[in-house]
Amino acid sequence: MFGFPKAKPQQVTLVNDAGETVTTFTLEPKETLLNGALRNGVDFPYSCKVGGCASCKCQLVEGKVKELTDKSYLLSAEELQENYILGCQSIPKSEVVVRMPDASSATVPGTLTSIHWLTHDIAEVHLKLDSSVTYRPGQYASVAPADQSLPARCYSFAHAVDDGGDSAVSFFVRKIPGGKLSHWLTDSDNLGKAITLSAVAGDCTLREGTAAIVCLAGGSGLSPIVAILEGALKSGQDTRPVQLLFGARGQEDLYYLNELNALGEKWRADFTITPVLSDEPQDSDWQGKRGWLADAITADNAAGHQAYLCGPPVMIDTCMEKLKGLSSAPGQIFFDRFSDQSEGGSAG
Ligand SMILES: Cc1cc2nc3c(=O)[nH]c(=O)nc-3n(C[C@H](O)[C@H](O)[C@H](O)COP(=O)(O)OP(=O)(O)OC[C@H]3O[C@@H](n4cnc5c(N)ncnc54)[C@H](O)[C@@H]3O)c2cc1C
Ligand code: FES
Repeated sequence: MFGFPKAKPQQVTLVNDAGETVTTFTLEPKETLLNGALRNGVDFPYSCKVGGCASCKCQLVEGKVKELTDKSYLLSAEELQENYILGCQSIPKSEVVVRMPDASSATVPGTLTSIHWLTHDIAEVHLKLDSSVTYRPGQYASVAPADQSLPARCYSFAHAVDDGGDSAVSFFVRKIPGGKLSHWLTDSDNLGKAITLSAVAGDCTLREGTAAIVCLAGGSGLSPIVAILEGALKSGQDTRPVQLLFGARGQEDLYYLNELNALGEKWRADFTITPVLSDEPQDSDWQGKRGWLADAITADNAAGHQAYLCGPPVMIDTCMEKLKGLSSAPGQIFFDRFSDQSEGGSAG
């Protein structure tokens, strides 16, 4: 009788940016690259483990992998072309050589220092770290209680950092009903408690150029957008016109508009903020735009623009479709999906 051949355990070689071997190990049959690396004590960056955050993004240099989910929503066109894969979603089918993720995998300890409520369910959460971290505006990091009582989650830095880095960082965190870490981080009982921050990563960062910019933010997705705009102002990219479309449910979910208007005052080119409310009562006094964020995208405010999108997966997907329909320049759309562990939730 013939049976199916058993999946062979495959050998993995991890190399650094210079192509030097960092380590080699053998996977269990059907084991993902990430799980194999972690089992072998490799400090491989990760957060969600379900193909939703790209913290485990790495480059396949040699060999073949079977991919468990579609990575094209998470990786840019350049990265797909350069053979980037998700470590948590890749099962090697041959011996592989993999370039380690482009992320600072160093874990920095720190403390939860303050919680400032911006709306009824979104707070700016401030951390004081024991040492400075550097990141590019638009990037995120993995945060967890230091005692590991809860799993780590990704949060996007809310402000641009100085070149030398900073030890005081903050994120806009939406308190998700039933959400473990978002509750912990926004609970004043936890002030002064120890946290860890690791795996700074993300590719939704400002590209230089002269094209106008359209930013699309949903809920707490405003966090990296604020950082990107602050960074652009600091680096003199404020000669580019900006359209910021901010999606929220109702007027009570809008926040940070005064600060954004102040930023817009300093901006040298046009800077337009358009809040779009999806769930505002029809008979309210709201005079602004209503509907889904994607419906507010038009040829006037987005065609030919460089686009930055941050927020819940459904918002990203619908807005991407709309932008592509406007034939936005290929390779000019950058985004971060605030996916949760189920990938079915509506983060933001
Ligand atoms: C790259 C990246 C950047 C991110 N940046 C931010 C950020 O700056 N600010 C921010 O607030 N979040 C951000 N997130 C989302 C964040 O990582 C968590 O997923 C979120 O805070 C929920 O974690 P939790 O532990 O509270 O919920 P969990 O305990 O993981 O989830 C509890 C339950 O709630 C569901 N759920 C989880 N999230 C949602 C949701 N949003 N809506 C409805 N149901 C949900 C889950 O499916 C589960 O059933 C980001 C995610 C990614 C991948
Ligand atoms: S850890 Fe692999 S995509 Fe999140």
